[in-house]
Amino acid sequence: MSTSLRSPSPSSVQAEIAPSLAATLKHRREKLAQQFSHPVILWSGQPQPRNFPANVYPFRANSHFLYFAGRSLQNAAIRLEHGRLELYMDNPSAASALWHGIAATREDIAEHIGADAAFPLAELNGTTDVATVAVQDYATRGYQARVLKREILPAHRAQSLDQSLAQAIVQLRLIHDAGAIAEMRDAAAISIAAHKAGMAATSQATHESQVRAALEHVVMAHNTICAYNSIVTVHGEVLHNEHYHHPLTPGELLLVDAGAEAPSGWASDITRTWPVSGRFSTTQRDVYDIVLAAHDACIEQMRPGVEYREIHLLAARTIAEGLVSLGILNGHPETLVETDAYALFFPHGIGHLLGLDVHDMEDLGDLSGYANGRTRSDRFGLCYLRLDRPLKAGMVCTIEPGFYQVPAILNDPERRSRYEGMVNWERLAQFADVRGIRIEDDVRVTEAEPEVLTAELPTAAAAIEDLVQTNA
Ligand code: GLY
Ligand code: MN
Repeated sequence: MSTSLRSPSPSSVQAEIAPSLAATLKHRREKLAQQFSHPVILWSGQPQPRNFPANVYPFRANSHFLYFAGRSLQNAAIRLEHGRLELYMDNPSAASALWHGIAATREDIAEHIGADAAFPLAELNGTTDVATVAVQDYATRGYQARVLKREILPAHRAQSLDQSLAQAIVQLRLIHDAGAIAEMRDAAAISIAAHKAGMAATSQATHESQVRAALEHVVMAHNTICAYNSIVTVHGEVLHNEHYHHPLTPGELLLVDAGAEAPSGWASDITRTWPVSGRFSTTQRDVYDIVLAAHDACIEQMRPGVEYREIHLLAARTIAEGLVSLGILNGHPETLVETDAYALFFPHGIGHLLGLDVHDMEDLGDLSGYANGRTRSDRFGLCYLRLDRPLKAGMVCTIEPGFYQVPAILNDPERRSRYEGMVNWERLAQFADVRGIRIEDDVRVTEAEPEVLTAELPTAAAAIEDLVQTNA
């Protein structure tokens, strides 16, 4: 897909992927069967009412279902056993056709996804002794419990059969097949075009919301959705800021963390930070280049066998070194990492798994991100690390170092006293125009060089300035 805006063409998208979809799904089921011999039922979920039943939030199927079923079906389930696929869903009623139009039949869908058999949902009743994964929406979770006649809990608290299934699914979904990578490249291309549109719109925009509209316009025009709520903010120090009402003032930085889903559901996740005026100030540029140095150093190390935790610590060291060179931190970078002093300014993990979910499989808790036997650290600098596994070819992870001046951290009396001698507070005050900077790309680990799926969106400060100035 080119990075320019394409007109929406859902039928051509489906036609493009249709020939290989059934084969991709079959391969996934066979791989699951190699690791897990017990029968499995996965539910897709159902639309959630917003304020009354007919007015619902946009529906998006559960990702474990989507991984094996390939289509975002509402109120459906699949049964997997020894590589066999059965589809369970009801055909649309006459009333549904009145309000929602003619929909594909169960039989059409079964053929499209390569199911071996298809049944109405009621045929699931009385099925017991199967493994499952809890769906996020509570209505479906209740339905799962009624069908299976047992409590359905999130994977990390689930009964051992469900937990074994979750472990097997994690092993599969950690390593992306060619079908998944193709979809993630499509998602990345949409996000790249969206960020460029956001940059180009900035000089004419008066508020954050207008930049958000410009970039989400691109996502919508591709007939798809964002993989998560966009962050478009001059208050980048609020890590997951989802307010868009602030005015844009020259001299401020705008932090944009926004990523599209491909129409198939595969995610992308990009962050860029740019100056509202189109020109970084000297202080902004100095810190930007430190974050970029950490970003580049980490991506370079994304190779099989490398521990992701070490990638995080490399970012920490690079940021600590940079902040020492600017006179913001005092001391030896190794010590600043060992004592977590760097985390005063980089208080989150270096990134996370990416796949059908923007934080892939986080519904399974740390079963997905943490290797067997590993648990979260309680250290200030490591407690938000979402991934602690050795890298393997086929994994896709984000790399997203940052620098933030978070008042709740920097004004905390306990931290202030603990790190008193390590921070030059007077020097830091000269960087007041740097509230938050993050640079994030999506990286595929290969046997050779890492592949940056989002590489077509520049990161260098001068190139970012050029893109922002495009329409100025
Ligand atoms: N893109 C949001 C996050 O990674 O948390
Ligand atoms: Mn991210």
